[in-house]
Amino acid sequence: MTQSGSTQPVRDNQTATGGSPPPPVHVAIIMDGNGRWATSRGLPRVAGHRAGVEAVRRAVRTAGELGLQWLTLYAFSSENWRRPLSEIIDLTGLLRHFLRMEIADLHSKGVRLHFIGDRTKFDPGIQSDIAQAEKTTNNNAGLNLVIALSYGGRAEIVAAARKTAEDIIAGRLPIEALDETNFAERLSTAEIPDPDLIIRTSGEKRLSNFLLWQGAYAELLFVDTLWPDFGPSEFTAALAEFARRDRRFGARPG
Ligand code: FPP
Repeated sequence: MTQSGSTQPVRDNQTATGGSPPPPVHVAIIMDGNGRWATSRGLPRVAGHRAGVEAVRRAVRTAGELGLQWLTLYAFSSENWRRPLSEIIDLTGLLRHFLRMEIADLHSKGVRLHFIGDRTKFDPGIQSDIAQAEKTTNNNAGLNLVIALSYGGRAEIVAAARKTAEDIIAGRLPIEALDETNFAERLSTAEIPDPDLIIRTSGEKRLSNFLLWQGAYAELLFVDTLWPDFGPSEFTAALAEFARRDRRFGARPG
């Protein structure tokens, strides 16, 4: 696990006394506001989600152009299962369409797909599309695109705690050796660097159970733009705001 959080206090080219941080390696986005975007236009919510998929396409393209190595998108939270069945059907339908229709294009652009969250909650067809997307793009060396599906940070931490307990009981991990690094290796993000920047669109200022462990030292940016309107200029502005932040990872200013 390459952590830019508490176990890796300061990046190589940034001093503990501040200064402009290096560009983010990993940006994670809470894509919020699809419903309001649709309602404000007198459209059904599904139209907002469709426009949200367009914004996903743009964000992936822009992330590559901006030189990011990792982009994580919160597409479906573990709490989203509480939405009306009709909306769940719309969202899973869009997801299925995305997985079937976009993978070839993403693959041709060198994008490698990863999924975090409880995929067993989805029907077997979607589960096999997810597995196929991972397999097809496994050797790609371009942008790493992580899609969080039926994801909840607390559930992820509990699952890692359970694995850790099992490994301790089975003698695979001496309890004295337990630390942040080997605990993080039991999270679903074991191979993924911690996010440098978490963006939430639509003006809401919450993390909503997203990357709770991994985001410990992430810069947080809340923008008013509704997700379907989030385009290259908003993404570029977000990175410019990140560049103005003073990341100290808990170190004292000089
Ligand atoms: C939040 O908007 C957005 C979601 C719950 C779903 C995000 C999904 C997509 C952008 C499309 C599917 C993604 C992929 C990768 C295929 P909201 O509905 O909560 O908006 P509101 O707060 O305005 O009601």
